[in-house]
Amino acid sequence: MKIRFIQLIFSALFGMLLISCQNSSTNKKVEAVSPELLSAEIAKRMPSQPVEEELPGKTVYINNCLSCHQSDGSGVPNKHPPLGPGSWIGKDPKELVAIMMKGLSGQIEVDGQIYKNHMPSQAKLTDEELADVLTYIRSSFGNNFGPVTAALVEKVRSGR
Ligand code: HEC
Repeated sequence: MKIRFIQLIFSALFGMLLISCQNSSTNKKVEAVSPELLSAEIAKRMPSQPVEEELPGKTVYINNCLSCHQSDGSGVPNKHPPLGPGSWIGKDPKELVAIMMKGLSGQIEVDGQIYKNHMPSQAKLTDEELADVLTYIRSSFGNNFGPVTAALVEKVRSGR
């Protein structure tokens, strides 16, 4: 009688164990095909905004602008103006391209600060590189402005 009772308890425990195992494995299966999770996963991999690292202009920026404007576009106080929100980067793209062509000298005001320095011309860069770098800045450092095309750079460069 006693042995039977112990057997009963054991089989009950074993049964519970089995059920809990099954539950956890079915849960996993459900998770793996859950459409919400899948779409969340896809959203993570395909953000609506291009990821900074993926923009070709980042390399152009690192090689040609970073030394003055810094890796985060914050600039250097009293020397090199910032490129984030409040800077000139939201201006008409034609004006930006013109700055790239001619450089910039003399006293200017950027985001409430006065700068009186000199930026050398970046005209040595190709139309594509300038379009890429301006596009990169305009969607980085907290900015959210539209892209600049190589066609526009070419247009400003040739004075058309
Ligand atoms: C040698 C340092 C230097 C380099 C390199 C340089 N800049 Fe500048 N940049 C400056 C300075 C200095 C000014 C402000 C000039 C003045 O005081 O009149 C400026 C101004 C600007 C402005 C307008 C003001 C603002 O901050 O919004 C933009 C836009 C800009 N630079 C973008 C670039 C881009 C893009 C590159 C690379 C392709 C670049 N600069 C490379 C030093 C530099």
